[in-house]
Amino acid sequence: MSANYIPKSFIESLVAAINIVDLIGSRVELKKAGKDYKGLCPFHNEKTPSFIVSETKGFYHCFGCGAHGTPISFLMEHDNLDFVTAIKFLAQKVGMEVPLNDNANLKKENEQTALLEEITKIYESQLNQSLEAKHYLTKRGINEKSIKKFRIGYSPDSWNFLSSPKLLKLFSEKKLEDAGLIVKNEKGNIYDRFRGRIIFPIKSSSNKIIAFGGRNIDKELPKYINSPETITFNKSDCLYGLSETYEARNKNATMFLCEGYLDVISLAQSGIMPSVATLGTALTESHIKHIIQRTPKVVFCFDGDEAGKKASLRTIDIVLGFAGGLTEFSFLFLPKGQDPDSIVQAKGKDHFLELSKKSIPLSELMIKIACPEMKNNNAESKSKSISVALTYIQKMRNELYKDAFITDLADHLKIDKDLVINASKGSSKTFKAMPDNGQSKPSENLFIREAISILVQFPKLANKEIPLDALSKIQAPGASLFVMVLRYIRTADSDITTSMIIEHFRDDDLGKHISKLISDYVFDDDLIAEKILEDIIKKLSFHGSRSSLAESLTKKFKKL
Ligand code: UTP
Ligand code: MN
Repeated sequence: MSANYIPKSFIESLVAAINIVDLIGSRVELKKAGKDYKGLCPFHNEKTPSFIVSETKGFYHCFGCGAHGTPISFLMEHDNLDFVTAIKFLAQKVGMEVPLNDNANLKKENEQTALLEEITKIYESQLNQSLEAKHYLTKRGINEKSIKKFRIGYSPDSWNFLSSPKLLKLFSEKKLEDAGLIVKNEKGNIYDRFRGRIIFPIKSSSNKIIAFGGRNIDKELPKYINSPETITFNKSDCLYGLSETYEARNKNATMFLCEGYLDVISLAQSGIMPSVATLGTALTESHIKHIIQRTPKVVFCFDGDEAGKKASLRTIDIVLGFAGGLTEFSFLFLPKGQDPDSIVQAKGKDHFLELSKKSIPLSELMIKIACPEMKNNNAESKSKSISVALTYIQKMRNELYKDAFITDLADHLKIDKDLVINASKGSSKTFKAMPDNGQSKPSENLFIREAISILVQFPKLANKEIPLDALSKIQAPGASLFVMVLRYIRTADSDITTSMIIEHFRDDDLGKHISKLISDYVFDDDLIAEKILEDIIKKLSFHGSRSSLAESLTKKFKKL
């Protein structure tokens, strides 16, 4: 059973049912101290107790070594259990049964991909019956072999083709709706999502059809529509063409990443493979993970216009964390207004491959961006270049790559390498744990961290009047986490506790982050916490600074 398959709602009710004082008390001697319990910390050696367990928050914290967390993390750390075993242990303790949700989900996913497979066959046969659709594909230069390989189909120009009584009987309205193929309007009437469109089935990396893309063949807008996100379709994790054009025995081939369905199909048709495309979304880390597992070199293809340049900047930010690994990243800027499809269809494979030789490796592109045409090779332009380069250096995770890049940069600017190294060390100190987009004052960061901490420790305060709209607009680091936590508490049960919130955010390490914030700002008294939160929110709404009253109160209570 994988952790992902234990429903969050179950974990939250489990944590709520556990008495953390009983749990820890059976392993550590605890004594009542005010509202909380105190004992000798089991995670480090100490003679006077600095380990506090809060029954109401469901949270423990050591002022000596900083250990902290929920009942689940206590068991994981103290009894050395993994996440799932810790949950099983706790569930048994309170007589709850861990739901084995994995089978149910898997079954639903399989049913949906089987349905999409059937519908694909129907759309494929409809293509054969539509002269107009076939004519369109011929006009675009797509041959029979490609139509078969990519299983291209056609959805007839009708509001009720799939949603006709005959097909509804065969497939069930609910299942077609869940799969995103039919849509229900406000009046409760149902109609087909894809009407009069060329259909491109979208496959998962394990070769199952999980969604469709559909292109218009007349003027009806939008040009493309895709299936909505469903249990089988997660756009940000999906690359069109991966399963059709990648073959394990060709694992040394360069991969081309393009923008559209037809780019992938035309490249593959001319023998340029593997070729893949994102589905109208920006590139994500999970796309990159699919790519680096499969190829030693990927060429990102961009239109040579402004939009293409912008897209390439976003791509740099995403791939930097993976630079220096086994996959080389390269950037190809095509002539303005052209895409791989138009080039390969008009001028052929060799011409495209010739162009692709001009693709620029990631490190060179970053240097190009950081150091644009240096006519004035003066101190100003050099320091400007270094500060741009530093924003890249901070995102590099591979130390060897970082070092090699710094060497290139220093060579390019004709400066001493140590200068850049020192600058990079200095700048990373000022950027704390929270993701920073560089637009906020550092002091705001601290306020928001404290505000998150208060909110999680006293979830009832989330019901206070908080100007959510104004706060959502704040660019400060952590602001989005604050809003996320606030929204979550407001939609949760009224008796939600601190540890339930932490467990809810366990994925992506957000839970760990929140848990750390709580131990950084421990509050004992809810009235004071409320006062401080009010104060922070007021100040944040005005982008001002914290009042000295609240500041001195915080200091006082941090010491407790
Ligand atoms: P483009 O508009 O660049 O079109 O969309 P294209 O791929 O060159 O299409 P053709 O050659 O005119 O057929 C690129 C990708 O962006 C998404 C689709 O995934 C498309 O393949 N897109 C585009 C949409 O989702 N909706 C749209 O309306 C347009
Ligand atoms: Mn195109």
